[in-house]
Amino acid sequence: MADTTSLTSLAAQWGLPTASLPRHVAIIMDGNGRWAERQGRPRIEGHRHGVRTVRMVSETCTQLDIEAVTLYCLSSENWKRPPAELDFLMHLLEQYLIEERRLIMEQGIRLKVIGRRDRLPANVLAEMDKTLAMSQDNPGTQLVLAIDYGGRDEITRAIRKLASRVASGQLDVEAISEQTVADALDTSGLPEPDLLIRTGGDMRISNYLLWQISYAEIWVTERCWPEFSQAEFRQALTEYAQRDRRFGGLN
Ligand code: IPE
Ligand code: IPE
Ligand code: MG
Repeated sequence: MADTTSLTSLAAQWGLPTASLPRHVAIIMDGNGRWAERQGRPRIEGHRHGVRTVRMVSETCTQLDIEAVTLYCLSSENWKRPPAELDFLMHLLEQYLIEERRLIMEQGIRLKVIGRRDRLPANVLAEMDKTLAMSQDNPGTQLVLAIDYGGRDEITRAIRKLASRVASGQLDVEAISEQTVADALDTSGLPEPDLLIRTGGDMRISNYLLWQISYAEIWVTERCWPEFSQAEFRQALTEYAQRDRRFGGLN
């Protein structure tokens, strides 16, 4: 029997003891385009509807008191897409950062962004920095947006950082540990993802959090991101709670 005194209210309703919840959920929000195309609508309609799911997930994580949720918003490879789709994604991102600011503050969410900044438009960066600054002391769930993010790019940038510290004599080669590497990544300070969710049914990682997901539990649904519901999120968390995590050892 679960000890109900240690349950937050939504977790209690869902029958999930706090200790069985992931500390960090990472999500590959995929299938926006397919969802729209299935209805004979332009792909961008899928992205537009996907924002609702982002809201649902961040709100649910807050209610469950989950420490961090990382959302794959734009990969370093997504720049291969048509300019019109990329323009729309940038517009949507800017709108999201403006329109969600009130909810982010009300819910005590702390925003963090991982990925490259140098290829993003100035208007997006300005709204991003505003929300980052406003929310930096919030005590709640960390909402981590992976924007122009690629695992290989992140690792490459981390290697450059470490190499320059070695070259300048600040860091001894022998002192480089897994912790040193983790600290040089964009996700420095975050717990590693316990649960990786992918919508849209594809069984791949698509360059997401390559270092960090070493022992994440993977959960994939055929459902596309715009139609991913709270009931399905609950199902993912329930199945996660039943997984036997061994981390290479024996139970
Ligand atoms: C995910 O949906 C969102 C982004 C990659 C920006 P897609 O746009 O990849 O949708 P599908 O996978 O083509 O259906
Ligand atoms: C992964 O989806 C990136 C995001 C969800 C932002 P993609 O649609 O880019 O992945 P692939 O191309 O199917 O691997
Ligand atoms: Mg896709």
